Amino acid sequence: MPSIELTHVTKRWGGFYGVDDLSLQIEDNAFVTLLGPSGCGKTTTLRMIAGLETPTEGRITIGDQVVFDSSKGIDVPANKRRVGFLFQNYALWPNMTVYQNIAFGLQNDRSYTKERIKARVDAVAEIVKIGPFMDRYPSELSGGQQQRVAIARTLAPEPRVLFMDEPLSNLDAKLRLEMRSELQRLHLETGSTFVYVTHDQMEAMTLATRICLMDNSVLQQYDAPLDIYNRPANLFVADFVGSPSINFIDASGSQRADGRFELTMLGGQKAVFTPREPVQLATWLDGQHRADEQAGAELEARLKVKGAVAKENTESSFRYRVATTEDLTAAHDDAAPVVAEHDFVIGVRPEFLNIREGAPMAGEVYSSMPTGMETTVRLRVGHYLLTGVIFGPAIYQLGQHVNFALDGEGLMLFSRENGRLVCQGSLTIA
Ligand SMILES: Nc1ncnc2c1ncn2[C@@H]1O[C@H](COP(=O)(O)OP(=O)(O)OP(=O)(O)O)[C@@H](O)[C@H]1O
Ligand SMILES: [Mg+2]
Repeated sequence: MPSIELTHVTKRWGGFYGVDDLSLQIEDNAFVTLLGPSGCGKTTTLRMIAGLETPTEGRITIGDQVVFDSSKGIDVPANKRRVGFLFQNYALWPNMTVYQNIAFGLQNDRSYTKERIKARVDAVAEIVKIGPFMDRYPSELSGGQQQRVAIARTLAPEPRVLFMDEPLSNLDAKLRLEMRSELQRLHLETGSTFVYVTHDQMEAMTLATRICLMDNSVLQQYDAPLDIYNRPANLFVADFVGSPSINFIDASGSQRADGRFELTMLGGQKAVFTPREPVQLATWLDGQHRADEQAGAELEARLKVKGAVAKENTESSFRYRVATTEDLTAAHDDAAPVVAEHDFVIGVRPEFLNIREGAPMAGEVYSSMPTGMETTVRLRVGHYLLTGVIFGPAIYQLGQHVNFALDGEGLMLFSRENGRLVCQGSLTIA
């Protein structure tokens, strides 16, 4: 099954950019999820690859076929791209049986004889386990069975690539989970390339071989799910994946000659951040500034081309948030002080926070929510709140004083100036 390549693909309506300069390589037989908040450009991206939306600029190839190229005037229509779709509203024909629904798309294709149609419908019905219901009408099926018929109908014409746009969002939580594992199996059995849109990070994490995470029309990170989780490129990515959310802690300080960072955080707490791999902040910042300048120059060049239109929606609505008891909704926005290169944000996944006697930091239990398998605990440190997840049952009294540590080598140090990840490492309390 083919790989898909997007090269500098842009879609804009006037000055509003739905997808901005997206370059992406989707490997053969991959299961890629397009993930991001509402309006970030997921559906538009999918529709452009499928041929349902014409990009403003760029080039798209499926396998060795160029299906779109703005500079060469190539635009292969959707029905010639041999791709299958499954949308959120996958309406089945109510007056047709399951068999007829699945066979419908094949009947218009002259290469399918009656016998071949029958063989094909039986084969896909087997894959989605809908065999016993072939003579029923959609109204006689459960929601999950209807969904499977819709999948079978999409698979019947043997698409090279399968596009799915939130296909499970109509289902209840239990069925969703079940269908997720079916989709994973389906991916293996069909050997097709899957491109799957969702705004549900759990779905993206569990299904994908790679996640394409977007925000406000711009690609933020394209990586394997666990790399996205463990090594987010910036504050947006760190915040978007993970439940409960990552803790952000403002810190300021400087890098010592030995490479460690001497920081002050949480209203006066002194700490030392030791990078896991060596990093030179000054060099890193230089590189970032150069990259930003180059991007700026490229943008300027793009805007000089005839017919180019400046982007209106340049600002993402994302603001990282430091949780405090005073104002849980306060964000770092307009009133935020000017940040400099010695301003950082430390990212701490909830599982890095461990409560134990003798640990170097002290806090008070603000809330404690056991679910059986794990307990989500919020600790108050001064007016800051930190969330931890403790595995196994743990009972805490609200207001109880506890000691805790931020453990491991995977803590993240972000630059507050540009929100990007500087390095990962461990934290010791001075
Ligand atoms: N025909 C159009 N004209 C103008 N703007 C459009 C058009 N279609 C989409 N947009 C805008 O482009 C942006 C991206 O839309 P898109 O449908 O790709 O979002 P999405 O990531 O799929 O969001 P959701 O999760 O809500 O489905 C949105 O801000 C949307 O309003
Ligand atoms: Mg959408």
